[in-house]
Amino acid sequence: LQCDCAVCCRRENEPPLIKGWIPFLGKALEFRKDSLKFLLEQKRKHGDIFTVRMAGKDVTFVMDSSLYPYIIKHGRQLDFHKFSDKVSPATFGYQPVHSKLHPGLKEQIHRSFKLLQGDNLTPLTESMMGNLMLVFRHDHLGHSGWRSGCMYQFCLSVMFEATLLTLFGRPAAARRRTGTNALMDDFVKFDNKFPHLITEVPIWLLGGTRAVRQKLINYFLPDRMSHLTNMSEFIRMRMEVFDNYENLRDVDKGAYHFAMLWAALGNTVPATFWAMYYLVSHPEALQVVRQEIQEVLSLSGVEFSSDTNVKLHREQLDKLRCLESAIKESLRLSSASLNVRMALEDFSLRLGESRSFAIRKGDAIAMYPRTTHLDPEIYEEPKKFRFDRYVHNGAEKTDFYKDDQKLKYYLIPFGSGVSMCPGRHFAINEIKQFLSLLLLYFDLQLEDGQSRAEFDPSRSGVGILPPSADVRFRYRLRVV
Ligand code: HEM
Repeated sequence: LQCDCAVCCRRENEPPLIKGWIPFLGKALEFRKDSLKFLLEQKRKHGDIFTVRMAGKDVTFVMDSSLYPYIIKHGRQLDFHKFSDKVSPATFGYQPVHSKLHPGLKEQIHRSFKLLQGDNLTPLTESMMGNLMLVFRHDHLGHSGWRSGCMYQFCLSVMFEATLLTLFGRPAAARRRTGTNALMDDFVKFDNKFPHLITEVPIWLLGGTRAVRQKLINYFLPDRMSHLTNMSEFIRMRMEVFDNYENLRDVDKGAYHFAMLWAALGNTVPATFWAMYYLVSHPEALQVVRQEIQEVLSLSGVEFSSDTNVKLHREQLDKLRCLESAIKESLRLSSASLNVRMALEDFSLRLGESRSFAIRKGDAIAMYPRTTHLDPEIYEEPKKFRFDRYVHNGAEKTDFYKDDQKLKYYLIPFGSGVSMCPGRHFAINEIKQFLSLLLLYFDLQLEDGQSRAEFDPSRSGVGILPPSADVRFRYRLRVV
């Protein structure tokens, strides 16, 4: 009898397997510690396709982004939803969706994503503008003279409340929501444990996380949601969909809404932080971007004054090319998401005319765009923030090359193919809005005596990396 298990045998034409010496963990700890360094080391030793055993799973990494289109083409054998259907319910606390028990639910949830895009983006963006303005005016615009703050905390509190109001609305007759700070504190507690939950660490091993998650779900139970007004069309439609399924429990509905709150904020807050940090720490870039915002406003006949509320419409946001480039550049530097697909069967992964690899049913295939984002052959001085990297002659720059080949996938913070983020246009717009208000209303400086902000590597694979420590800054109303 010949053994055919993945533990001791490799079949013909399988990628090299890197196991590590700790039986179950394999290389998981090394990956966590510094994923980029670890993967580049494996690439140097084994080439651009290799399999790593991590926490009992075999993950095949495809390191060259010019090969991504082949993976995306293998949609029949490589499924994204198999992975998310398994991991998301256990992470957010809803029952897995069964096509027999909940016919059509998955498809309708997917259809709801359209309400974040196209023409539907316009009302969402207008609503976000009003809510950002509301939070800025009440919390930050009433003071003269310099004030100090912690930058991550500043981004978190503004984006959290404005996003909550925009997507989920507010109680009738109230302008803001009471209890937002408590909700935000619970959200942060849950988010700190998120990397463990998505790597399938049982929630009962994570201290009080189950109780915190239950509190978060409770905020979104149907009887609390029914008292809210000014809700986005997106969330309203999802409520209607859920109500059509009698066998969905209230707790499942609440958990779905909570999962959406996490999707809308989990990456956006650190992305907003880095965009703000890079601009504040590069005053020459900040000046160009501020000038661009003022020009776009005055083109439509508005002269900025700090006494009046700013409104930037969607078409105006589209014209902010330098600002968009600065945001994309900070996404390039801070994004560390893994795009994972599960093999539904044993098959041969064809990568072009002459190369193919045997993949086993149940194995994961991972694309890790951070290696592309920091590749010196694609981006000159890849670790440097260059605010204008994605703009050329006033238009978006899209031509990036490796080995003389023009790349389709050169900036991938939002994933690719079927699992591409449906909130990506909303995310870019809201970060533009936040930064526009910040730059128009305030003079901004980093406080002296701090070292440069570093990425927290412990969230490698999850999404946008947060900073390892918060950054202190000063701000005061500009005299305009
Ligand atoms: C999925 C990134 C903001 C909603 C994803 C994925 C990535 C991503 C990489 C795919 C995950 C995968 O392949 O495993 C980001 C980044 C954001 C951002 C970097 C901000 C800078 C948002 C916002 C929303 C949103 C603002 C909603 C308002 C979603 C949803 C999914 C998703 C619903 C799951 C899609 C599915 O199940 O097919 N996001 N996202 N995201 N994102 Fe975002």
